[in-house]
Amino acid sequence: MISWLTLLFSFAWMTSVGAVPSPGNAGNHRAAPATEDTLKNPPVFVNQSSAPRTIEVSLSAAPARLALMPGKVTDAYAYNGTVPGPTLEAREGDRVIIHFKNNLPETTTIHWHGLHIPADMDGSPFYPVPPGGKKDYIFTIDSGTAGTFWYHPHPDVRTGYQIEKGLYGAIIVRPAHDPLPALPEKLLILSDNRFHRDGSIDIAIPHTPAAIVDEENGRDGNVMFVNGQVMPTIRIRSGEVQRWRVLNAGAARVYRLAIPGQTFLQVGSDGGLFEHPIEVKEILLANSERVELLVRGTGAPGRVTVLQALPYDRYMPQTRPDDWNHPRDLLALQYTDQTPTTPVALPRTLRKVPALDTSKATVRRVLVLSQGMINQRTMDMNRVDVSARLGATEIWSIENVVGMDHPFHLHGFQFQLLDRNGVPERDRCWKDTVNVPKHETVRFIVRFDAHPGKWMFHCHILDHEDHGMMGILEIK
Ligand code: C2O
Ligand code: CU
Ligand code: CU
Repeated sequence: MISWLTLLFSFAWMTSVGAVPSPGNAGNHRAAPATEDTLKNPPVFVNQSSAPRTIEVSLSAAPARLALMPGKVTDAYAYNGTVPGPTLEAREGDRVIIHFKNNLPETTTIHWHGLHIPADMDGSPFYPVPPGGKKDYIFTIDSGTAGTFWYHPHPDVRTGYQIEKGLYGAIIVRPAHDPLPALPEKLLILSDNRFHRDGSIDIAIPHTPAAIVDEENGRDGNVMFVNGQVMPTIRIRSGEVQRWRVLNAGAARVYRLAIPGQTFLQVGSDGGLFEHPIEVKEILLANSERVELLVRGTGAPGRVTVLQALPYDRYMPQTRPDDWNHPRDLLALQYTDQTPTTPVALPRTLRKVPALDTSKATVRRVLVLSQGMINQRTMDMNRVDVSARLGATEIWSIENVVGMDHPFHLHGFQFQLLDRNGVPERDRCWKDTVNVPKHETVRFIVRFDAHPGKWMFHCHILDHEDHGMMGILEIK
């Protein structure tokens, strides 16, 4: 299975690197050479079931006092006591049972972002769990839906607050047969947050100027976390290939990811693997999106580089933060001193992503995103905005008519992008969130193949969502 990809590991390519990382994020320091990764994975849920193809776990949400920032103690919210919460690992076809207990002083839900499951298990605001309440979330993971997903609260108008207090965790669904060879695998949950000097989380007081800016922009944080850690280190051997699953769990930040002097092979997005790997210099990851990347050790032994968030202007000019133009360091990539190893051969084809057939589309819809509204309305739990027929294939055109980006998310169904501003999308893949840049239009095709009921669609900037930039799709 030697392919063009293997040629990328030629000697010339391996010596063409050596860029110096640009100055980072104030407060972040260059990591000293580590003998092992300082990046820690969140804990993985302990499976309490011995039945075949069954994952049964207990999950609580509760207030917690945690050292989120080095040297400070913060009143946070945590799933099973950790931020991020434990990772849910499952396989296609598994039946998943989550015994959830709400120990928060407020109503919550758990939404399984990106999973194709029944509407009453989706944790939308229609199924609130009151303080002290319990709910069992039970669903089966469809075959063909392996990928990286996440879970977070989704109560009416309090989603942003609860995620920013610490409630988020990853879901990894593995296929029966993974087309990629076994590779060292890393999970990177990106998030940012903002703190007062005493370590408490800085959430603006409603109606203050700061709150109005957050409501407009979405709340950016100045402290950058990977798996809840500030500037951790991943070690890589020269020549080695690692598989990174990256999730943007931030409230609003769009990460423009790059490693100076290296490229990524992107192998997947929200809904799992692509058909073919794609070599890219940068990844644009809007909040709630995921990517799967192959990071190749193309640098020399002993070198240190960084994963950075490069400047990305998603803002209205009048509320754009002064420091938007600064690259921020997220993580150090430390080459070991070992002699280079021979890169593994990678398959050229990962899997088939069958195209949804546009000639079968029976309904075409236009959703206009303006500031805080979809089709000139804010969310109303008692209104259905879009009625669709079970089994229908539809084409949705998402038109952003304002001067800031809005990442659009649909619950329950993965879609395929058709075009952006009329330019056909080159590489077919499954998505549940798509960033719609300022004054641009994105079209996607989706099939409502199962799971009747009420579903949410919304901007995933949490401040926009909580202020009503959301609508309801009913499938019957
Ligand atoms: Cu991440 Cu409505 O969801
Ligand atoms: Cu969702
Ligand atoms: Cu928005």
